[in-house]
Amino acid sequence: MSGFPEFDYHDDELFVESVPLKQIAEKFGTPCYVYSQSALTKAYQEFDAAFANRDHLICFAVKANSNIAILNLFSQLGSGFDIVSGGELQRVIKAGGDPGKTVFSGVGKNMHEMRMALDVNILCFNVESEAELISLNQIAKEMNKIAPVSLRINPDVDAKTHPYISTGLKENKFGIPASEAERIYQSARLYQNIRFIGLDYHIGSQLTELEPFIQASKKMLNLLDTLQSKNLEIEHLDLGGGLGIRYTNEILPSIRDYVSTLCTSTHQVKQRLLIEPGRSLVGNAGILLTRIEYLKHTPTRNFAIVDAAMNDLMRPALYDAYHEILPVNKNSGEIKDYQVVGPVCETGDFLGHDRQIGLMSGDFLAIMSAGAYGMSMSSNYNSRPRVAEIMVDKNTTHIIRQRETIDQLFSNEKILSH
Ligand code: LLP
Repeated sequence: MSGFPEFDYHDDELFVESVPLKQIAEKFGTPCYVYSQSALTKAYQEFDAAFANRDHLICFAVKANSNIAILNLFSQLGSGFDIVSGGELQRVIKAGGDPGKTVFSGVGKNMHEMRMALDVNILCFNVESEAELISLNQIAKEMNKIAPVSLRINPDVDAKTHPYISTGLKENKFGIPASEAERIYQSARLYQNIRFIGLDYHIGSQLTELEPFIQASKKMLNLLDTLQSKNLEIEHLDLGGGLGIRYTNEILPSIRDYVSTLCTSTHQVKQRLLIEPGRSLVGNAGILLTRIEYLKHTPTRNFAIVDAAMNDLMRPALYDAYHEILPVNKNSGEIKDYQVVGPVCETGDFLGHDRQIGLMSGDFLAIMSAGAYGMSMSSNYNSRPRVAEIMVDKNTTHIIRQRETIDQLFSNEKILSH
């Protein structure tokens, strides 16, 4: 048992759904990202079912994985989207997603992005400052439109996660303190081209406990109460994303428990609930498949040098994140303590430290839980072309992103004529 339902061993060989990963590596080359369509679908359906009869909209956070085949799959399942840039909006549209089910988050939306989003009538702008609101009001006025808005409240709760991905503390750059938000909502008449339709929070990512969500919801409901007593109509509450996934043997709340906690903590109100899950929809539905180029044994350490690197999966280098590393074929070489590292010229270029695995060069490894913030955060550092992405549906494999070519790498560059 691998512990990852759609990526499991049959005898000693690791499969994704009904396809041996070795077959994928040989057919499409490595490194590549491999996704299970069944895992993606099940995760979405688990969220959807957990809301039961509560009016809701799931807005997949595009930043977690922005491949248009994945966006298209979620759109077909009924999903909306949470975007943070004009580029993500274009992807949603290209993938057949519905702008009317799309919310736009982020502290630094520029004028061009606001215009684009107003033009396609997105569901809501999650506004993060008064300055942004003034700018949005002005642009909507110029376009003769009314912009639908939620203010993103900063509830000042501790998400107890990695500091780089904690967003709901008052010292973070995100959101507006509740007291200030109250003042802004009450001065709604100053903003002729804004319609305040919601309240929003997002307190961080990879949360392993539900308590911070309960606290944040409480603060949001207090504000809702005040606004309603002043006759402000609020149509939806957006409770952000943030549910963590299991990377190793952490114990995590299930999707069902998370959603039912959100529903319970807002049971006294009738507003539609929106959520913006990213990682919990895609994280454990994808892996990074890599090949061992060389084994290198020094007097102090054993290195497995693989063909994937920090530019393909940044999380270990950036957050010291742990990803399980499984051999595609078990029982290959002698079991040793390995440092699994890439070819990039930095000591920070590692995928895993101190892994007890039996390996031989030419073997394939699966870097698990790489479906979220893997490909979407990859770069071309060291002039490494971005890798291919493969979707598996039962026993069928589909390439959903071609491997980048070296020519594409510098196609926008130019030598000056002297
Ligand atoms: N909504 C907003 C406004 C967000 O900023 C985010 C993530 C989400 C939703 C989705 O959160 P999730 O459900 O995926 O936790 N690169 C980091 C994670 C950054 C998360 C940024 N915001 C990582 O690899 O861990």
